[in-house]
Amino acid sequence: MTAAEAGPRPGVVQLDVMNGDLRIERVRWWHLSAIARMETAIFGPEAWSEGVLWSELAAGHDYRAVLDGADGDRIAGYAGTAFGDAEAWINNIAVDAAHRRRGIAAMLMDDLLARARAGGAKSVFLEVAVDNAPAQRLYDRYGFYGIGVRKNYYQHTGTDAAVMRMDL
Ligand SMILES: CC(C)(COP(=O)(O)OP(=O)(O)OC[C@H]1O[C@@H](n2cnc3c(N)ncnc32)[C@H](O)[C@@H]1OP(=O)(O)O)[C@@H](O)C(=O)NCCC(=O)NCCS
Repeated sequence: MTAAEAGPRPGVVQLDVMNGDLRIERVRWWHLSAIARMETAIFGPEAWSEGVLWSELAAGHDYRAVLDGADGDRIAGYAGTAFGDAEAWINNIAVDAAHRRRGIAAMLMDDLLARARAGGAKSVFLEVAVDNAPAQRLYDRYGFYGIGVRKNYYQHTGTDAAVMRMDL
């Protein structure tokens, strides 16, 4: 069974993380329309629809959002992770353009990696477009390394995806 099929990992520690006006919350259904709008603004034709995001929650994948209390509790960023027995997959991570370079992606990564570690995961995997330099810098910073390439992974551009792994 893959991590994506395995659903949430029982016993994963739930951390409430705050950083000034920023706080991390578990994503609930009422957050999904705002996240879908961010998806469209950020990923354009590759965006996940609100329906796909509903399916992600229904599948038990763990989504967390950073809310900015100084901006009316607006969602500033989010990340979705599928936890398996010994591995986790980061399905999605994105930060609203107006909130970038404030450490929000790092907050989400610290949180999800802490929960993966607490849940007994040994490795974390993700896919990233080969031309996405900011995201690759983020993953490099956390010790991810390339383990393969999925050719033409992104349908609308035909861009390849690098598959990356880190060992916890
Ligand atoms: C990639 C992304 C999530 C980073 O979010 P962010 O909140 O701005 O990132 P942070 O401020 O937490 O930065 C953490 C680290 O990531 C790296 N990084 C982030 N943005 C970067 C940029 N534009 N250029 C170079 N490095 C960058 C840096 O190493 C940074 O550490 P530093 O600030 O100490 O140099 C954001 O740019 C984004 O949402 N991009 C569009 C969606 C996307 O590509 N998602 C990833 C799909 S695989």
